[in-house]
Amino acid sequence: MNELVRFGVSMPSDLLKEFDGWIERRGYENRSEAIRNLARAALVEESWQEGDSEVAGTVTLVYDHHISGLNDLLNNIQHDHHNIIISSLHVHLDHHNCLEILVIRGKASEAKSFADKLLSIKGIKHGKLTTTTTGHHLA
Ligand code: NI
Repeated sequence: MNELVRFGVSMPSDLLKEFDGWIERRGYENRSEAIRNLARAALVEESWQEGDSEVAGTVTLVYDHHISGLNDLLNNIQHDHHNIIISSLHVHLDHHNCLEILVIRGKASEAKSFADKLLSIKGIKHGKLTTTTTGHHLA
């Protein structure tokens, strides 16, 4: 069982005041929950920096499918990385625009280079990698 441990934290009073305001604006019930989430966020961020860590995330893309060659290129890149993509969603937003969300899981280094490859393609109107975790090794 993962027992809860209490510990004391010292910080300047002005910082604590600002932090308490942030906690309230975010809707946290208490400081402990806020600090736990900040700790998890730091660990998730670090896991994405360590090439061998297994990570999860999403790549979101918006593009005009009329652009010549773009659909083929996206399709080819995704087939080349089928081992990283565990699910995908394609929405035809309007006559021109497509929204695509790829759920990815794999080694951080591969996941990052896959996302970079997609996000740098000419013709992508907006793209974003959201980094998260498989949840393993994170209490
Ligand atoms: Ni579409």
